[in-house]
Amino acid sequence: MSIEPHGGTLVDRMVTGAEKDRLVSEAANLPRVTLDERQVSDLDMIAVGAMSPLSGFLGEKDYRAVVETMRLADGTPWPFPLGLRVSKETAESIGARAALHGGDGQLLAVMDVREKYEGDKKHEARKVYRTDDGEHPGVAALYAQGDVLLGGDVHVVDRTDKGHYADHFLDPAPLRAKFKELGWNTVVGFQTRNPIHRAHEYLIKCALEMVDGALIHPLVGATKSDDIQADTRMLCYHALLEHYFPKDRAVLACYPAAMRYAGPREAIFHAITRKNYGCTHFIVGRDHAGVGSYYGTYDAQQIFEEFDPKELGIQILKFEHAFWCKKSGGMATPKTSNSGPEDRFILSGTKVREMLKNGEDLPSEFTRPEIAKILMEEARAEISA
Ligand code: ADX
Repeated sequence: MSIEPHGGTLVDRMVTGAEKDRLVSEAANLPRVTLDERQVSDLDMIAVGAMSPLSGFLGEKDYRAVVETMRLADGTPWPFPLGLRVSKETAESIGARAALHGGDGQLLAVMDVREKYEGDKKHEARKVYRTDDGEHPGVAALYAQGDVLLGGDVHVVDRTDKGHYADHFLDPAPLRAKFKELGWNTVVGFQTRNPIHRAHEYLIKCALEMVDGALIHPLVGATKSDDIQADTRMLCYHALLEHYFPKDRAVLACYPAAMRYAGPREAIFHAITRKNYGCTHFIVGRDHAGVGSYYGTYDAQQIFEEFDPKELGIQILKFEHAFWCKKSGGMATPKTSNSGPEDRFILSGTKVREMLKNGEDLPSEFTRPEIAKILMEEARAEISA
């Protein structure tokens, strides 16, 4: 039996056949909204139910309830106030329906524009990101969007080209079917936006001791410019699975969301959406979805205490900071190691980037040699380009 989607029903906003043909010809005469990369990701996830129970972009009542309480107006937990932000000029040009296009002009959806409203960006930033600092990449992305929000259901006629990893984009319904086929009753979801390293591997393997299978679900939507490209990361995930995991215990699939770096609230979002993809468990480690020093190390774990576990419906597996323990010669956390700081091998993301830039070898205590090789080759290619 598979886990219930958030809100009870897996939403499907894709339109096909004659209805699609009708919408495509209607769209030719509708006012146009060009979505940014993040909005395209949001639309894509709404289309296939990854954002269930959303059937479109949030109206004002839901927007305000989400900003203030992390819940939709009906009380369902929901962390991000996803109205469709557009400029004032665009909003003025729109009537009851609008055609939503991708950046390259591709028609993606027709939207029933039920509401137009304003939402103070600074206030939204403080509530959602816990800061209104424009240097925060998620806040900067919010500030770059328009001042007016559109709310209403979407009818999605097309999706953007998923490139050469297209066969790794598994929507919630096919992924749920796959878990069923594999006979997995319990599935742990693993979110990542970084090249996979030993601490990641340790967390997933600890979880695999308790559940039937793992969904390695790297985020491939928009990230900040100094994060490692999704294509390179995909090579790393493949290499790790090939060399260090049993063949039938993990599925690798792309998670199409954009990264918001919202720390605690994003952990809630990551968990709820992974439930929609069919996961029963979800890993939250140190500084999940964090950036810089905006969040405390375990803020993204503590936020789950604000909800009754039953209303989230997915079990959160919380892990403390994992490291290579020189004393015991293996991966550990403060829960399992009595080593002092001098015995703990820890590399920050900044240090790793610096080492790659300088052509230095990444040690096997940090990452597997097959992964280090991919990252070093990529760094070398970038330097010589
Ligand atoms: S994230 O932005 O997607 O959270 P990253 O890909 O680095 O960044 O992390 C993926 C998951 O692994 C998150 O749950 C994060 O908290 C966890 N994690 C990363 N490094 C460690 C570590 N050394 N110890 C414990 N958890 C970690």
